[in-house]
Amino acid sequence: MRAIQIARLDGPQAAEVVDIDEPGADGAVLIDVHAAGVAFPDALLSRGLYQYKPDLPFVPGAEIAGVVRSAPADSGVSAGDRVAGLTMLSGGMAEVVALPAERVFTLPDNVSFEAGAGLLFNDLTVHFALRTRGRLAEGETVLVHGAAGGIGTSTLRLAPALGASRTIAVVSTEDKADIARAAGASDVVLADGFKDAVKELTGGRGVDVVVDPVGGDRFTDSLRSLGVGGRLLVVGFTGGEIPTVKVNRLLLNNVDVVGAGWGAWTFSHPDYIREQWAELEPLLASGKVSAPAPEVYPLERAADAIAALENRTARGKVVVALR
Ligand SMILES: NC(=O)c1ccc[n+]([C@@H]2O[C@H](COP(=O)([O-])OP(=O)(O)OC[C@H]3O[C@@H](n4cnc5c(N)ncnc54)[C@H](OP(=O)(O)O)[C@@H]3O)[C@@H](O)[C@H]2O)c1
Repeated sequence: MRAIQIARLDGPQAAEVVDIDEPGADGAVLIDVHAAGVAFPDALLSRGLYQYKPDLPFVPGAEIAGVVRSAPADSGVSAGDRVAGLTMLSGGMAEVVALPAERVFTLPDNVSFEAGAGLLFNDLTVHFALRTRGRLAEGETVLVHGAAGGIGTSTLRLAPALGASRTIAVVSTEDKADIARAAGASDVVLADGFKDAVKELTGGRGVDVVVDPVGGDRFTDSLRSLGVGGRLLVVGFTGGEIPTVKVNRLLLNNVDVVGAGWGAWTFSHPDYIREQWAELEPLLASGKVSAPAPEVYPLERAADAIAALENRTARGKVVVALR
């Protein structure tokens, strides 16, 4: 089968198309992959900068969508079913993958393979961050950084269905504002000077929740943008720098900084992903939550697809087409 392989750790351009053996079923669900999602960890993995370091060579890709080729009788899916699946951190960018049944999910008919390949990783993270860690309540306002990225567009799509009455998207350029608006943002502000813009938009009250996949030097202004009882959800550090918190700010303003590490949570809560999908799947099927509208790259350009996240040119979620 054709697959993307990374054999050296000098960045996204190391990602090459190769021919390798198909995996055996061996008690797993075998899936003919139509598309694979690209996420920020793929760029970090290509440089050996992620906390998880697979042996070389490895196939990148944390999530896929495709058609079941074969499945164990008790897996809940059968040959021919349209599914999305999580490899979690590597193995997805290949024409065939074998996944344990608990990481395979039936795709609603109205969600394309490309959209399906781009939704699990981010939507489940955002659902976890807003619902479980962020305690999002009905009528609250959510601000999201990196709003035209994967986690960002996912937040904009999901937050209203989870209760938010307003979403404020923070992007670095006007060009990215359109992506955030298309994903459903109520308001879009530029990263440069976002604190003052948020103050004005909220009449000085501040927001209830900040979703932060960026970190870096925006962190303190994010804390300052929270209203009383607000929560800042730490999701990632695409900005590179890991910020520090002066805890007197938390005390003075009664705000929380909350870690939201979805992968680690799923390891300590084995039924959690199923429970999440039981809530998300009907929202997608009914259209209450729109499917992602990803940028699709052909397999031959997987390296460019991964690079787009590293060099900040990605517009929305990025996926690679396998078929
Ligand atoms: N906590 C969890 O469980 C979990 C799960 C999944 C992903 N993550 C993390 O979430 C983060 C976002 O992932 P993603 O897939 O959404 O990435 P993405 O699609 O590349 O989006 C990230 C956004 O970060 C912004 N950014 C700011 N400074 C940047 C820089 N120096 N380089 C690149 N981007 C920069 C960009 O928006 P602007 O240009 O508009 O600023 C970009 O749109 C990553 O750190 C990832 O590891 C965490």
